Amino acid sequence: MNRLRVGIIGAGNISGIYCENLTKFPSIDLIAISDVDEPKAAAQAEKHAIRSMSVDDLLASNEIDLILNITIPKAHGEVALQALNAGKHVYNEKPLAISREDCKKMLAIAATKGLRVGCAPDTFLGAGHQRVRELIDSGLIGVPVAVHGYMTSRGVESWHPNPEFFYKPGAGPMLDMGPYYLTAFVNMFGPIQRLASMTRTTFDERTITSEPLKGQIIKVETPTTFVTALQFAGGVVGQLTTSFDTHSFPGQPNIVVYGSEGTLVVPDPNSFNGWNESSSKIILRDGKGDEHIYLSDLPFKANSRGVGILDMAHAIAEGRDHRASGALAFHVLDTMLAAIESSDESKFIAPSTQPNRPALIGVEEFPDERGLMG
Ligand SMILES: NC(=O)c1ccc[n+]([C@@H]2O[C@H](COP(=O)([O-])OP(=O)(O)OC[C@H]3O[C@@H](n4cnc5c(N)ncnc54)[C@H](O)[C@@H]3O)[C@@H](O)[C@H]2O)c1
Repeated sequence: MNRLRVGIIGAGNISGIYCENLTKFPSIDLIAISDVDEPKAAAQAEKHAIRSMSVDDLLASNEIDLILNITIPKAHGEVALQALNAGKHVYNEKPLAISREDCKKMLAIAATKGLRVGCAPDTFLGAGHQRVRELIDSGLIGVPVAVHGYMTSRGVESWHPNPEFFYKPGAGPMLDMGPYYLTAFVNMFGPIQRLASMTRTTFDERTITSEPLKGQIIKVETPTTFVTALQFAGGVVGQLTTSFDTHSFPGQPNIVVYGSEGTLVVPDPNSFNGWNESSSKIILRDGKGDEHIYLSDLPFKANSRGVGILDMAHAIAEGRDHRASGALAFHVLDTMLAAIESSDESKFIAPSTQPNRPALIGVEEFPDERGLMG
C-alpha cells in the first residue's frame, strides 16, 4: 500500500506525541509541520527530523495527502475546510469543530470531493476499550442497562502552558473532555437518542498558576460543570458528569457499566490502556459480589495518539470505512452542544445525528504496526 503522506497544522502542546508516533508507523510518512507561529513549527520540525512549512505552503503542497489539524478548537472548522478545499483528507483533534454548521460543511465537501474526515479521540481504538467492547459484546454482563461517566478535575490552569481556550466557548469540561467519554459510550452502545443536562459556572475568573503565563487572569465564558442524563438508541441509559470545578479521589472510577449480570469498571477513556498497571484493569463484579479482573492483550497499549490516522491510511487503501470518523465526531459534538442547549432551555434534546458503532479492530489488521505501541 502507498504510505499516507501527512502534514500537521498546529505545533503546540499535543504536537510532540503525534510527531513521535506518526514517524514510527511504516504506513505513514510524516512530511512537515506548520503553525501561525512559524518559529514554533520550526523547532518541532527540527526535533522530529521533518520539514517546517508555512501554513499556506503546507495547504498547497502536492506532497501531502492528509492534514492533521491540531490547532485550538475554535480554529478546527476553518482549518479543516481549508484542507478539504485544497483537496486533502483531514483529521482534526477534538472537537471536530465548535458548530454543527462547520461539521456539516466539512462532511458535505468531503463527500463531494471523495475525501475523508477523521477526528480524535482515537483512544477507543486502544487495547483497553477494544477489550471492553469485546467483553460487553460477548454478553459477559448480560443486558447492558446503564452507564456512568465521571470526569472531575479542578481545571487545567495549573499545568497547561496556554490554558485560556479551555474556558471559552468551544471548550470547557464538556467540549474538551466529553469527547473521550461520549466516543467511548458510542463505541460500547451506539448513538445517543436524547439527553437532558444541567450546568453551572462556579468561578467567573481563573488565575493561571502554570508557567509561562503565571498570574494572568482568564475570564470564564463557558459552563464548567455538567451533569447530563443520556438515553442511547439501543436502550441503555446513563449519566455523564464533567467538571473543571471539583476534585477526583483515589480510586474514583472513570466509567462504570451496569449490566443485568454484572458491573464493569473500565479504564479511563482518555488513555489507551489505563495510565498504569492498576488502572488498566477491567474489573467485573458479578451478580454474586465476586470480583474478576480482565487485562487486555490487544495492541496499542501505550500513548498511541495517531492510531486513528493509521486506521484512515489503511481504510483509504482498502476502500473501507475508517473508525475515528467525521460522522462519529459530529455526533459527539452534536450531543455536547445539545447538553449546553438542554440546560439553557430546560428540556430534553435529541441529537440529529445517528452514526453506526465503529467496527472492532480485527486480529489481522495493522500487521506492521500492531507491535509498535505496546
Ligand atoms: N494538550 C493536551 O494535552 C491535549 C490532549 C488532547 C487533545 N488536545 C487537543 O489538541 C488541540 C491542540 O491543543 P494544544 O494543547 O496542543 O494547544 P496549544 O495551544 O498548545 O497549540 C495550538 C497551536 O495551534 C496554533 N494555531 C492556532 N490557530 C491556528 C491556525 N488558524 N493556523 C495554524 N496554527 C494555528 C497555535 O499557534 C498553537 O501553536 C486542541 O484541540 C486540544 O483540545 C490537547
